Amino acid sequence: MSNTTLRCAVIGVGRMGRHHARVYAQMPDADLVGVVDHDADRARDITEEWGGQAFGSIADLVASGVDAVTIATPTVHHRPAAEQLLGAGVACLIEKPLAPTAEDAAAIAAAADAAGVALQVGHVVRYDPVMRAIKSLGDLRPRHLELHRISPMTFRSVDVGVVLDMMIHDLDLLTMLVGRAPEDVQASAVAVLGEAEDVCNVRMTYPASQEGPACVANVTASRLAMKTERTLRLISEDMYVSADFVARTVKVIRKAANADQIEALRTRLAAGEDLSDVNYLDLVQFEDLEIADAEPLRLQAEDFLSAVRSGNRPPVDAEAGSLAVQVAERIVETARAGQLSLA
Ligand SMILES: NC(=O)c1ccc[n+]([C@@H]2O[C@H](COP(=O)([O-])OP(=O)(O)OC[C@H]3O[C@@H](n4cnc5c(N)ncnc54)[C@H](O)[C@@H]3O)[C@@H](O)[C@H]2O)c1
Repeated sequence: MSNTTLRCAVIGVGRMGRHHARVYAQMPDADLVGVVDHDADRARDITEEWGGQAFGSIADLVASGVDAVTIATPTVHHRPAAEQLLGAGVACLIEKPLAPTAEDAAAIAAAADAAGVALQVGHVVRYDPVMRAIKSLGDLRPRHLELHRISPMTFRSVDVGVVLDMMIHDLDLLTMLVGRAPEDVQASAVAVLGEAEDVCNVRMTYPASQEGPACVANVTASRLAMKTERTLRLISEDMYVSADFVARTVKVIRKAANADQIEALRTRLAAGEDLSDVNYLDLVQFEDLEIADAEPLRLQAEDFLSAVRSGNRPPVDAEAGSLAVQVAERIVETARAGQLSLA
């Protein structure tokens, strides 16, 4: 399959799926052969714009021949679509979260293993140029992480709570940055508009292990905020990284580059000097990382199709997708015990 054009399709062409269809249509080595959506008008609109055929069912799509499919239906419908496609030997890129429960996620992972075809999970924030800039710093070995993802209510994806809808992005970033499941989870959540949580704060601890030093992660997600904020702050032995995904900036303060300044400050503080007039930001040296201009969904699709061609495991595999859902489930269970309801 190495040099062939892959026949691609999308199941569910709503808010996210329509972009997956566009990306396949725009890729030189992919052919958008079709879409499947319960809403026939929507399916027709997408094929009129981007090509391919509107199929009435996944069975019809499979019968006409397809190599790789994105599943972008609401999360509660991921498992039946995935099992049908994987069972027919079709590679799947499944939107995040992989599934609404850890049990469903494990069943999807098992179906991919049994079929021996590629399964990637659409944790697209890994492909955000801001995240790629952070990754370019190398193995960061974080000691402390602070992640905030807050927005006003959009009234979308309300089939799941804010942990599975929004915090899941950060849980996946933690899998990437810390490389293991947390040992301890403390969480609190608030449900305002329904049964599911709309705001959640969690503190997770990771004891030192072969994968890295001891680490603490504080993560906050809210879909009832007054503003939109997506930030990541990371402290390691060697540096402090502060990233803003909305402003598209990453600032890095390296310990080595500031050793003399820190030593001088320590000496002056120890001597009892009044430093209240000193502007700390004038003293420290920081770098602004360059942020590339690339579309995360396109980069994700390129990785997915490359895994389909090579037979290698995709970079965000079923194991990573399942771990994010397992941790999310644990957070929700922990928070539920002490949940506040403002309704
Ligand atoms: N990666 C991200 O940043 C991001 C952002 C938003 C949503 N998502 C994820 O994408 C998925 C879809 O979310 P959305 O906001 O696009 O939803 P949406 O409601 O806008 O679109 C879903 C589409 O799927 C169709 N559909 C529903 N059930 C179907 C089925 N069984 N078979 C075929 N079509 C079906 C609907 O008619 C609709 O067109 C969810 O898993 C969500 O978590 C990811």
